[in-house]
Amino acid sequence: MSNNEQPTKMWSGRFREPLDPTFESWQRSFPFDWRLVPYEVEASIAHARAIQAAGILTSEELLQMEEGLRAIAQQHSEQGEAIVTATPQAEDVHHYVELELTKQIGDLALKLHTGRSRNEQIATDMRLFVREAIDNTLAGLTAWRKALVELAEQAGEATMPSYTHLQRAEPVLVAHWLLAYVSMIERDASRLTDARKRMNLCPLGSGAVAGATLALDRTIAARALAFDAPTPNSMDATSDRDFALEFTQAIATLGIHISRFAEELTLYSTAEFGFLDLPERFSTGSSAMPQKKNPDLTELIRGKSGRLLGAATTLATLIKGLPLAYNKDLQEGQEPVFDAADTIAGILSVLPAFTASLKFRYDAMKIAAHSGYLNAMAAATYLTDKGIPFRKAHEHIGNAVRLGLETQRELQQLTLDELRTICPQFGDDFFQAITLEATLDCHDVIGGTARPRVKTALTEAKARLTEHA
Ligand code: ARG
Repeated sequence: MSNNEQPTKMWSGRFREPLDPTFESWQRSFPFDWRLVPYEVEASIAHARAIQAAGILTSEELLQMEEGLRAIAQQHSEQGEAIVTATPQAEDVHHYVELELTKQIGDLALKLHTGRSRNEQIATDMRLFVREAIDNTLAGLTAWRKALVELAEQAGEATMPSYTHLQRAEPVLVAHWLLAYVSMIERDASRLTDARKRMNLCPLGSGAVAGATLALDRTIAARALAFDAPTPNSMDATSDRDFALEFTQAIATLGIHISRFAEELTLYSTAEFGFLDLPERFSTGSSAMPQKKNPDLTELIRGKSGRLLGAATTLATLIKGLPLAYNKDLQEGQEPVFDAADTIAGILSVLPAFTASLKFRYDAMKIAAHSGYLNAMAAATYLTDKGIPFRKAHEHIGNAVRLGLETQRELQQLTLDELRTICPQFGDDFFQAITLEATLDCHDVIGGTARPRVKTALTEAKARLTEHA
């Protein structure tokens, strides 16, 4: 290639042969990294300021460059993905911005790449993308958390069975069940916040691998991009994707929680449970069976959480065998991050409103909480309060349950005489000790389902929500 025309590649100087055209188009990342344009522009402006401070650009040139770069971001926000077909020469987002900037400001554009490498650029763009995705996810999580807390408040003292092994276990307050998910979300939010803090360092100035070849003040770019500081090691900074890994892993864990919620609601909406009416606005019908109302929203969420796990797995597998520092394999790490960010954004765009619109059938829940010997633990506790060792109390109540099963009665329907044949310590006060309320309230510990404890837990959850807001 002659030295006078603008090369079609950013690296064509040492090559005599053109690339195989099929390989050339196959290795491109612009078909997916075009969405990094806004971050590439911000990072380029930050770099331009740093090289201006180093004397590479005059302040007039810097202004011109900034203006050109902002026009590129503008074009991206107007045209979206159409920029990919509009710029067939662009190999990746970095190349695209350079080509477009050249169109805008001529050869001055070619100074922008002084003292930088695409390896640090992509590391920076991805950090900026992930940081924004974390912020969006946190906002969505707050909305979902709020919907759950409000639902818990509405539930008041409504009860439901809790399950272990998917068998009825003990009665709990509906609010207690909902607050279990609030606990999960709080952990998810703290994982994301934590990851955000750890990733908030700026790779610009790391060069291709060994550090920039210009005496750059790296704090200029770091500050311009709202990073806390420059990254401390150039080899790590150009090859590190921990921030993406942590993001996808935290999102995968969040996806697991959301999927469990979706699974419970799917089950609870069945005729077999009958605990809730699916909101029509968020359900679909069947083209074949006219009577059906299907829980597509919760099913899709359950399904999409699989993709989130897939993204985390792809990244971990991608990175684990890479020698330091940059390797082109890393280009494959972009799409799973985009997919995870899009998938969780989609889920959180419907989940809070869906949750807020849930209508439980408290009567059916209460009947379920009231039958099937869910007060057996409370009954055993009654006997231990009378001084009977728990192991023995368990045995006595087991015998009472068997008598109930044989005669189709609940514990509270057995007579005192019958109970006394099992254990003489049963007294009149037994029936008071195994009411639904007493069964709840005997779990009077921090984190238990006793009514005053749940009330406190709800107040605290609300306080954390406002504190967070
Ligand atoms: N498109 C590349 C990526 O996503 C950008 C970095 C390219 N660096 C290089 N040395 N080829 O990883």
